[in-house]
Amino acid sequence: MPGYLNECFHLYGPNFQLNIAGTAVVFVSDHDSLDTFYRNKDGSLTNDILITASPPRLLGGVKAPDSAYIIETSLIPIIVKGNMEPSLCEIGEAFNRELCNQFAQLLVDQSPSRPQPLRQLITYTLFHSIVPAVFGSDFPLSIYDDLMALDISTYHLFHSIPLFSNSVPHARLRVRGAVLDFMRSWKDSTTPHADYAISEHGNEVLHKLFALDLTDEDRAGLLQVYIWGLITNVFRMTYWLIAHLVCDRADYMRMQEEIDAGVAHEFPDRPSLLSAHPRAVNSTRFALLDSGMKETGRLYFYPFSRRIATADVEFRSASGPFMVSKGSQVIAYNTGAHHNPDNFEDPKRFLLDRFVGGKNARNLYLWARGSHICPGRHMAIYYLKMFTILLFQQYELAAAEGEAQPVRLPEGNPWSAGMPLPRKDVLVTLRKRV
Ligand code: HEM
Repeated sequence: MPGYLNECFHLYGPNFQLNIAGTAVVFVSDHDSLDTFYRNKDGSLTNDILITASPPRLLGGVKAPDSAYIIETSLIPIIVKGNMEPSLCEIGEAFNRELCNQFAQLLVDQSPSRPQPLRQLITYTLFHSIVPAVFGSDFPLSIYDDLMALDISTYHLFHSIPLFSNSVPHARLRVRGAVLDFMRSWKDSTTPHADYAISEHGNEVLHKLFALDLTDEDRAGLLQVYIWGLITNVFRMTYWLIAHLVCDRADYMRMQEEIDAGVAHEFPDRPSLLSAHPRAVNSTRFALLDSGMKETGRLYFYPFSRRIATADVEFRSASGPFMVSKGSQVIAYNTGAHHNPDNFEDPKRFLLDRFVGGKNARNLYLWARGSHICPGRHMAIYYLKMFTILLFQQYELAAAEGEAQPVRLPEGNPWSAGMPLPRKDVLVTLRKRV
């Protein structure tokens, strides 16, 4: 589909309409149309991402019919609070410490020169740092393989292809069972006994779930969806940023220099680095890192903001207003905006400093805009940036010997949700810096 949509974009311009199974689907990607889409206030465009895409049912096996409404009214406000600075500081410190342990463990478990797939390195270390930081180290991390199997299948889950021959329904049930056991023991325990005690944000999520009038299975299913949402795009965006750096030695060295200088300036000692404040991480000392993150999102992010027109809606657009009729689906085709040469010079290229100094920000829709702007963005940014900072500050990551030179960036698989998974991975080696 993404390739076909790109063709439509080139043939028909930034806004176009397709008829899919009898329903008008309108794709919008010029600045004014996206503004109409994201800033709709009168309810004539309903946000149905949580309802039609139905992650609660597909990913958590949740049966309650109003689960999307529950997420919107009960969980999103907690996510918004969890993304504020005090919460980020608490979770961030546990995350940074665990991430350093994970990196060190990789070197103990494997000889430094042994090549490993980059994706595995990133997803494994991030999962084993993010989840205990939020939910404490009593959380059953053994769900990792099953959750990854579920994550890889999300595109097919959302597109209703029969799953007779794949293991995802079993994986989903195993994850839910483990999450349910964890929730019950959290409820029964009076004292925290994990190395990393559960964060305030994690406690708040669990308290809220138990306060809802739901079955225990549905509560566990919702927590499963939350954990998936917490990690999936963070993993993918971190992957593509680091893959670009590994494949482009000059960019790698520029990032290395920025991080060495930034760390020396912002964090006088190791404890202050491990408790890095979000504001220090977002300072201009890490401008190239910030730009690289945005550039990765620009190049890789697939559109998924969708609304249903509940009335006829007039859209503003650069080529004049146009009407979208009641009942149509409208998709914010961010990929069109992000790959449009009128918005971004040489749009197919990864330019590490494209966004340095606030340049090019106007047409970037990575976190969406308006009232449904991603409530988890501050957490996502913190994880991605601290992963890169702690990795570059302590280790040397390089394409493994034997990889074809120059190292080719893997192709993305278009049949992916959110951001592409790589079709074939880069093998890398990790060494401690001296
Ligand atoms: C790289 C990581 C991420 C990216 C690129 C991303 C992107 C987005 C975008 C574009 C939307 C808007 C959808 C729309 O307008 O329909 C969104 C919504 C949302 N995101 Fe994220 N997100 C990321 C990470 C996270 C994390 C870590 C969390 C949770 C902690 C999260 C929770 C949510 C929720 C709950 C919504 C729905 C908001 C609503 O409908 O009002 N996201 N995300």
